[in-house]
Amino acid sequence: MDFLFSKDQLDMQRMVRDFARNEITPLAAEIDRTDEYPRELLRKMGELGLLGIPIPEEFEGVGADFMSYISAIEELSYASASVGVIVAVHTSVGTYPILNFGTEEQKQKYVPKLATGELIGAFGLTEPGAGSDASGLRTRAIKDGDNYILNGSKIFITNGEVADIFNVFAVTDPQKGAKGVSAFIIERGTPGFSIGKKEHKMGMNGSGTVELIFEDAVVPASQLLGQEGEGFKIAMSNLDGGRVGIAAQALGIARAAFDTSVEYVKQRRQFNKSIADFQAIQFMIADMGTKIEAARLLTYQAASLRQQGLPCSQQASMAKYYASDVAMSVTTDAVQLFGGYGYSKEFPVERFMRDAKVTQIYEGTNQIQRVVVSKNLLKG
Ligand code: CAA
Repeated sequence: MDFLFSKDQLDMQRMVRDFARNEITPLAAEIDRTDEYPRELLRKMGELGLLGIPIPEEFEGVGADFMSYISAIEELSYASASVGVIVAVHTSVGTYPILNFGTEEQKQKYVPKLATGELIGAFGLTEPGAGSDASGLRTRAIKDGDNYILNGSKIFITNGEVADIFNVFAVTDPQKGAKGVSAFIIERGTPGFSIGKKEHKMGMNGSGTVELIFEDAVVPASQLLGQEGEGFKIAMSNLDGGRVGIAAQALGIARAAFDTSVEYVKQRRQFNKSIADFQAIQFMIADMGTKIEAARLLTYQAASLRQQGLPCSQQASMAKYYASDVAMSVTTDAVQLFGGYGYSKEFPVERFMRDAKVTQIYEGTNQIQRVVVSKNLLKG
């Protein structure tokens, strides 16, 4: 496969890289420290089109291809993994499900405002008893005239603190397992729907992870996304693309840790020479760089399949688990290379390591990705 970027893809990469280095990097430590959603930054990004990169122009998006979007997530995450995940969730599971499965009316109502950042999107799948077992949902939606009445709760919802619309999955027919799950577009302010506790996390601060609570929430039937019973398929097919986004995010974090480490080992002197002159350090740098290249190839391969509309569950899962394992290993090595300074909050590598950890967990744990990969490989 040829991963040479076209001129348009390179232009997008450069634009996002410049914006990320100039406008996001200087704020990254502060976003992490305060755990506050960077509202003003997101407003600026919306104006620049960064919240609708792969969304067609007819829906006010930039109309760029999926590979450009993936490279943008990588560049944003290089500067701040928190900003990377806010954009990734907003786009891949906040906007795409409506674009791909919504009625014309739903698309016209929500997609242009999501693409420009006027609305922020979130995705409500996970529940206290349904994490990896995503079809074991308990949140119930019962049809009542022109409405559905929802009861239950969702947890660990990225962007939930600020989101305006939530793609939420609930059981409409408990007898049918995965085929009894339906998807709903739920607006903030819906009667009976409220935001619960905010998580205090190890990393990815500022991305506003909360609980969603439904207590006899009254959701108009017009908010059903797709057909009744189609919810699990909507969730899973959008997670395929979402997982490529998380692979790109992990790649961005790993690259940031690598570049910071290379700079440091060249200037840090011990035993009267730069520590980059020691073979022990050189071998660590070689391993870190090689793993990043391998993660990049898997990620771009999955993105390329997705862009062409080809099946990509297996490659998306491979890329997600490999790139996030690489991010964890490279950031851990970066802390080691920095020694005591690496453990200090004075340098960014400890943040990279904390942020990397969740890329092995969210959008499906790396164990679940291996389940998806092995199922596909054994099927032949
Ligand atoms: N695309 C389309 N349809 C799919 C699909 C896909 N990728 N994967 C499965 N399906 C369909 C199957 O074809 C099947 O339908 P049929 O019976 O008609 O064939 C149906 O869905 C059920 O499939 P499975 O039997 O494979 O389902 P399962 O119950 O065994 O679950 C699983 C499979 C892979 C374990 C799944 O539950 C899973 O991915 N779990 C992880 C959940 C997850 O990723 N959560 C992420 C939350 S979002 C998040 O984290 C965002 C964030 O904050 C960053």
